[in-house]
Amino acid sequence: MPLLNENYQNLEESYLFAEIARRVSKYEEAHPDQKIIRLGIGDVTKPLTKKVIEALHKAVEEQAVSETFRGYGPEKGYDFLRNAISAYYKKNGADVDPDTIFISDGAKSDTGNITDLFGKDNVVLVPDPVYPVYVDTNLMDGRKIVYMNGTAENDFLPMPDPSVKADLIYLCSPNNPTGACYSKEQLEKWVAYAKEMQAVILFDAAYEAFVSDPALPRSIFEIEGAKECAIEFCSLSKTAGFTGTRCSYTVIPKELVFPASNGAELSLHAMWNRRHSTKFNGTPYIVQRAAEAVFTEEGMAECMENIEYYRQNAKIIADVLRKKNISFTGGVNSPYIWFECPNGMESWEFFDYLLTHAQVVGTPGAGFGENGKNYFRLTAFGQHESTAEAMRRFEELF
Ligand code: MLT
Repeated sequence: MPLLNENYQNLEESYLFAEIARRVSKYEEAHPDQKIIRLGIGDVTKPLTKKVIEALHKAVEEQAVSETFRGYGPEKGYDFLRNAISAYYKKNGADVDPDTIFISDGAKSDTGNITDLFGKDNVVLVPDPVYPVYVDTNLMDGRKIVYMNGTAENDFLPMPDPSVKADLIYLCSPNNPTGACYSKEQLEKWVAYAKEMQAVILFDAAYEAFVSDPALPRSIFEIEGAKECAIEFCSLSKTAGFTGTRCSYTVIPKELVFPASNGAELSLHAMWNRRHSTKFNGTPYIVQRAAEAVFTEEGMAECMENIEYYRQNAKIIADVLRKKNISFTGGVNSPYIWFECPNGMESWEFFDYLLTHAQVVGTPGAGFGENGKNYFRLTAFGQHESTAEAMRRFEELF
């Protein structure tokens, strides 16, 4: 009889977005005539851009001919893509060596799988509220999690507390779900704290393309000294609409070397390389070619046009919330809008209320942590028409 990983008993029965989907389909089955508008999961609605589609077609044709056909690719990803990503970092003010970039199939997979590199006895510092994958994957391993509060008082941007010891620190900026974004000075404090603690920051930059304020950092590597204490995860899901196409990248600097208990020096870069080449066989060639197209001047301009479209949706949502005197964060440097549930409702109660009275789906704040239990998240990734219709229904209801 196998011994099971009993830590799974410490998880909620289902993953947040699976639970939302379950409740929505149950409602849909009972009310097949009602038109449900989904502003819950942060899934894009704009199709892939012209440049990306062209690159995909071209790569598909290459795969049809023996001279250009490619089988297994290099384990870290193709040079053409890693060089393009490194150049993109440079343009945004961060110096990232292509050799430290690993191509993968999603920031969700990598932020989850990175736990493989760390012992079970590490203390993990996680903001509350935040993207649930960090908590769930550490619970699966049985690690001790220490939460740091993100509240309206600190603009949902918890700062380091020198009296709290941590080995691993998750930061997500622009934040999912609050949309709050750390300033350069704040990230400098995090880097200083991590170095003091000899901790590693696991920095999720999946929403960096939404940063419109040029003073705000888009990468932890814009901060001096970050290469000695940080790993960064980024993805094309939100930047370029790759949620169904799957491509992401993770930067692990070679400076991240820590002593093992037997005195050996272990490099996180080398360990991830070992893990990646053992448990993963790479993002498909055609997808990497499509991703390369995102980083061309024209390709990025097309993606920015889509992001601008989503920004307009954020404005539609924000305008109604303002009109109703509901305070909110996000929506400017982020596709998410985060607000306190009206009428003192708790977030799952508000979820059901909004679904049954307006047929609008959002994400209950409780799914992101204890501090979210009276909050709600709406995404700007919908279509204009449905976002406007959802907010018309919302306006009528309150
Ligand atoms: C979200 O809605 O929080 C995200 O879409 C989830 C994800 O990117 O995995």
